[in-house]
Amino acid sequence: MPRRAPRPALEHLLAIADLPIDEMRAYTALGLDLKREFRSGGNRPVLAGRVLALLFERPSLRTRVSFEVAMHQLGGKALYLAPHEVELGKRESVGDVARVTSRYVDAMVLRTGAHSRLLEFAAAATVPVINGLSEAEHPCQALADILTMWEHRGALEGLRLAYIGDGNNVCASLIMAAAKMGMHVTVGSPRTYAPSDEIIAAARRDATRCGRQVTLVHDPAEAVRGADVIYTDVWVSMGQEREATERRAAFAGFQVNRALVDLAGDAVVMHCLPAHRGEEIEAEVLDGPGSIVLDQAENRMHAQKAVLHRLLA
Ligand code: CP
Ligand code: NVA
Repeated sequence: MPRRAPRPALEHLLAIADLPIDEMRAYTALGLDLKREFRSGGNRPVLAGRVLALLFERPSLRTRVSFEVAMHQLGGKALYLAPHEVELGKRESVGDVARVTSRYVDAMVLRTGAHSRLLEFAAAATVPVINGLSEAEHPCQALADILTMWEHRGALEGLRLAYIGDGNNVCASLIMAAAKMGMHVTVGSPRTYAPSDEIIAAARRDATRCGRQVTLVHDPAEAVRGADVIYTDVWVSMGQEREATERRAAFAGFQVNRALVDLAGDAVVMHCLPAHRGEEIEAEVLDGPGSIVLDQAENRMHAQKAVLHRLLA
């Protein structure tokens, strides 16, 4: 009797922390290829007949729309489940939702709060699960960020990234991804809102392998010196609304404004969006000639096509 081919292990995209360097590079290369393919007449419908469920416990513009359009352009379908619809863990247990939805669709994106909830969901799922943002990481954002830096600054090895502000989910995924791609990384955060030691250590491990540095400072001016890319994100992330007043006070002085950007010389400016003009970033900078935030937002779609390809095609 012929032996059955072994089933490949179930693959998820939950965290940049888990992504080997060669996979990080493969995602970037494939994202760039798929963007070129799309621009020269459209993508091949490699996901015909496939369905992606988007289960969101938090609001979204970019993540939802870019995944839905990406599925459409690759020939598949997406199904959006809004925060109030499923009531994950309330109307039904996290595990039951994951197991049941896995019987209908080919992959799922979950946007949630606690990363442990995402892990619980992924452990019960029998199809690939993609992290659409958790409090710990935003890996799809980081893949798009890498693609965008690559397009604007060329091969990333040896370039300098300065992240200014909250050491949050976006910061964690970004600095680990940048380190895997051979960039120098400097984070400029208030002491109490710096990325965790674990995240800094993980980024440092990858950076050191190719002779790069990951530095944590608490002075934004020091952080941007010599930067090729300056990146920031909101001071109050989703779920932290009750801490808004104390956070705004702690981050005063960490705004990405004209004076700060000028210290770097010739840096491009990035922000994952949504942004708060006048808070973490000055309007003049966000909307100015050095800002690449709209390319960055567009690239969510191209980068996620690479994710869908690798997990589903
Ligand atoms: N950057 C980002 O993830 O945006 P949304 O929250 O709108 O999806
Ligand atoms: N750090 C932000 C990112 C939003 C895309 C948040 O978690 O709300």
